[in-house]
Amino acid sequence: MVGVDVYSSTDLVNWKNEGVALEVSDDPASDITRGCVLERPKVIYNAKTGKFVMWFHLELKGNGYNAARAGVAVSDSPVGPFTFLRSGRVNPGVLPLDLQTEEAQAKYTEVNYDTYNKDKDPQAEEWWTEQFLADVEAGMFAKRDLEGGQMSRDMTLYVDEDGTAYHIYSAEENLTLNIAELSEDYLSHTGKYVRVAPAGHNEAPAIFKKDGTYWMITSGCTGWAPNAARMFSAPSVMGPWTQYENPCRGEKSEITYGGQSTYILPYNGNYIFMADIWRPKFPSDGRYLWLPIQFDENGIPYLEYMSAWDLNTFKAVEE
Ligand code: GAL
Repeated sequence: MVGVDVYSSTDLVNWKNEGVALEVSDDPASDITRGCVLERPKVIYNAKTGKFVMWFHLELKGNGYNAARAGVAVSDSPVGPFTFLRSGRVNPGVLPLDLQTEEAQAKYTEVNYDTYNKDKDPQAEEWWTEQFLADVEAGMFAKRDLEGGQMSRDMTLYVDEDGTAYHIYSAEENLTLNIAELSEDYLSHTGKYVRVAPAGHNEAPAIFKKDGTYWMITSGCTGWAPNAARMFSAPSVMGPWTQYENPCRGEKSEITYGGQSTYILPYNGNYIFMADIWRPKFPSDGRYLWLPIQFDENGIPYLEYMSAWDLNTFKAVEE
């Protein structure tokens, strides 16, 4: 384990290895000491500060997936070296906007995680009663984690047209997505955040905007094994988000053709869906699946497997 590698390309086909952008530390006291779990890094450019800002999912060494932290690092260049700033849970002491309404407060006041058997894994199926899901929706885990901050595992970043950046991550034991606004320098959270699809069990969020509509593709939660993708749309980043059918069509659409969403790259008015094909036994042999996003006659995005394509495919898709 060396840290976060970076590659560059001018045509998305030929790639140059630029080395290690963020190095893990040899100091055992560092949050990112060698042996930690550092996943799903994303880098955005801040036009005001001229800095490149990296956020990632961090699990502390020797502690499984319990830490559920977000880490942040900064650099003057996209190839690094990135300087690690800190890691932690998100927005401690602050309630999400959707739980601040009078209606939400009535239910929120009632729920209490202590009424559940805390020795049990919240992912265990026996927990998945209607009552449990209703309690999650009412904010049971958001409340449990209020003081220390919300859990943050699978994540992405999104910079809106007005320069505001958002951190989108799986919170509440991976049961609920959070969308949290970042500060002007992108290095911290402003305290403004919403929950998306509470109790919906979404991971691997990837987001893009087309013709004024925000689209988000996610996965379900089955560890390294692929599952069916989900899709949502919203008129603003902060929602409200509406869920659609699985955007994948055709054979193997129920397992996203073997991949799990990781990012959506805008390219000349088109969009490339990027997925990871994990090889958990040999992580460094993991592969990628990139597909052009297509749109139906109502402008709804969908995906079809293609064994080969190039950037000219976008024209073909449009015709
Ligand atoms: C997946 C998640 C990955 C990784 C993995 C660990 O569901 O999307 O990012 O955390 O679980 O088992």
